Amino acid sequence: MADVPTSSDTAFDGTLAFACDTPASRTLECIGVRDEAPGVKTFRLRDPHPDGARRYAPGQAMLLTLDIEGRRFDRTFSIASTPLEADALELTIKAQSGGVVTRWLHERFAPGMRIDTRYPLGRFTLDASADTPLALVSAGSGASPLMSMLRTLARRSPHADIAWLHCARGVDDILFADELATLQARMPNLTVHVWLSAPAPGWFGLRGRMSRGALWAMAPDFGRRTVYCCGPAGFMQSVRQIHAAEGARRAAFHIEHFGPVIEPMESEAATSGAPSSDEQRDAIFNAWLNGRRFDVRAGETLLVAATRQQVVIPCGCASGLCGTCKVRHLSGEVAMKHAGGISAAEEAQGWILACSSRPLTDVEIAF
Ligand code: FES
Repeated sequence: MADVPTSSDTAFDGTLAFACDTPASRTLECIGVRDEAPGVKTFRLRDPHPDGARRYAPGQAMLLTLDIEGRRFDRTFSIASTPLEADALELTIKAQSGGVVTRWLHERFAPGMRIDTRYPLGRFTLDASADTPLALVSAGSGASPLMSMLRTLARRSPHADIAWLHCARGVDDILFADELATLQARMPNLTVHVWLSAPAPGWFGLRGRMSRGALWAMAPDFGRRTVYCCGPAGFMQSVRQIHAAEGARRAAFHIEHFGPVIEPMESEAATSGAPSSDEQRDAIFNAWLNGRRFDVRAGETLLVAATRQQVVIPCGCASGLCGTCKVRHLSGEVAMKHAGGISAAEEAQGWILACSSRPLTDVEIAF
């Protein structure tokens, strides 16, 4: 279990917002590994740099770059620790069946070993006033970035009104259970609710799929809360719809998403300048990467289209966070909507993120 707040930690300076630092490449040392749940481990890392582990905001992520049997892998994981803990940071990672990187981390990565990273990444961070009622909603290992927020709130604002809502498969899969119980004893306005998607006999709590009724049972005032949500895309979509149906403002809903987005969400099409007429929706554009042509269906990102046609663009998060898929934009028009993986200066120099850019015309890109 990670440190819980002490009375000397709890001085509150009046704001929950953290400034987001510029991503930097760092080699970190593993200083500890602990089991969190079956198939889930927490890796404790030390950044030897003087500004070290304080550089991120709660909710942000880290890119790990690994060389496994001669192949390079880039993977992005949320940071679970709080930047208010100065000496180390933590990643809580589930071993994915068939996942080369997570399996390697679980089986091989051990104290004393070093790993190449780039952080902090992403814009999924606490940005609410201290008296805003919050709902931290997660499924599975989506609890990690929310735990970073909760650990931070425990130190900065222990009286904050917080509903922790977590979906796990079974009782053994509930993440951070012991620490949540400890935090609840110290945070008078923290409520913790868990529902299970596949409980064993003997579970008398909430069960089954996410529903408006289940959310209402856990947090009857869900619609007035600002929500931070992380989990599979379908889960987050359901929570978002329920939040809206409860009358909440769109701006009060924040999500963290990892993984390729194959189809554009309606809202993104509306805000990103993506094609809107029927004619444009049917369009197929030509794209050239270093002179090699591939086609891009309407609404596809350059990364999705390239991958579909075996054109390789290095990729980490596929979510506009890590910057791995940065390419030079030589000609044509794209609509880019990213999550912090590219700076304004890089954009001005003609770089774009392939995972976050949808062509509006034929385009030419290069490494
Ligand atoms: S793959 Fe991470 S920003 Fe594109």
